[in-house]
Amino acid sequence: MDGIKTVQINPADRMTGLPAQFFAGLVRKANAQAAKGRDVINLGQGNPDQPTPPHIVAALQDAAPNPMYHRYPPFSGYPFLKQAVAQRYKEDYGVDLDPEKEVAILFGGKTGLIEISQCLLNPGDICLVPDPGYPDYWSGVALAGGKMEYMPLTSDNAFLPDYSAVSPAIADKAKLMFINYPNNPTGATADPEFYKQTVEFAAKHGIVVASDFAYGAIGFDGKQPVSFLQTPGAKEVGVEFYTLSKTYNMAGWRVGFALGNTEIISLINLIQDHYYCSLFGGIQAAAAAALTGPQQCVTDLAAAYESRRNALFGAMDEIGWKAAKPSGSFFCWLPVPKGYTSSSFSDLVLEKADVVLAPGVGFGTHGENYVRLGLLASEERLQEAIHRIGKLGLFE
Ligand SMILES: Cc1ncc(COP(=O)(O)O)c(C=O)c1O
Repeated sequence: MDGIKTVQINPADRMTGLPAQFFAGLVRKANAQAAKGRDVINLGQGNPDQPTPPHIVAALQDAAPNPMYHRYPPFSGYPFLKQAVAQRYKEDYGVDLDPEKEVAILFGGKTGLIEISQCLLNPGDICLVPDPGYPDYWSGVALAGGKMEYMPLTSDNAFLPDYSAVSPAIADKAKLMFINYPNNPTGATADPEFYKQTVEFAAKHGIVVASDFAYGAIGFDGKQPVSFLQTPGAKEVGVEFYTLSKTYNMAGWRVGFALGNTEIISLINLIQDHYYCSLFGGIQAAAAAALTGPQQCVTDLAAAYESRRNALFGAMDEIGWKAAKPSGSFFCWLPVPKGYTSSSFSDLVLEKADVVLAPGVGFGTHGENYVRLGLLASEERLQEAIHRIGKLGLFE
């Protein structure tokens, strides 16, 4: 308009300080390949490929017309949903949770994983993060102006952090740490002994533990993953983040929970009072139906991923690609062939085999030399992906 000057938009430092979205580039490349009319098998992302079980969808259909849900929900969500998740934790893990004091409802686990850094870190405060690890931890720390120190996850340590390798000076300064088992991206799981060491380490150095249990329902070979909250003393030092995204194929519904330490739960509820009013009531009703209804769908889902894993590793054997099988989550952490980096190998398989794999370096420097493959296609498609890669003749 005449006489009106355009305002220069200067993003706040917090925006320019956000970590680069490494995987946005991968999505672009995969889309470009598909746009050429190629039959792309995308195993690079973490989006569950199956629909939400029908009884959960039906619960939303029943709840949607209820006028009570058309009003603002209570700020921290409906008590019935908090009770439902507490009941599930009691049945699955033998963990007692006070639904009002030890449960916060989240817009998906991702939101809580970002919020906890904002609740606990001042600019310059240290947070321990796994390397490789889920990039959202970095986003939360960056938004809070915190500083990350990395805990390497290597095959030598069964992809568990080695607390004895964290310098005591750093540990004493750290205020928060993230752990994540079953693990994204490595597919590793943790045992009760690891969680016991975690509680001891956290208590000794005064660090809050954020246990990301997004893949808690997906364990293989007859072993149910252990919850951090099963560990004596866990609630004194931290919280666990749980989500319905993977357990019930509800990634699009955005329902998650923070569970455990009352002070941290009240901080999360407080920050959420400022950001949001809770989830649509109909979604909360459906989420409660998921948690309190029949759990056979969960058992079936874990079995389906296990059978996909076995089909994939059968095909990998045929082409000579050797890797350790994941014990949980729906990810396989596969070493790249000699002479390649994680990025050059992913680029090659996308270009020559039309298969999308996530380069390990996108999860941290210790992710180099690996690619992450998601078990998010049928057994036949997974086998076909491996056979296509086999044709490149990269494995002995
Ligand atoms: C390790 C890990 N944590 C948390 C999440 C967040 O899940 P959501 O925000 O859907 O609950 C994901 C999703 O991919 C994940 O891989």
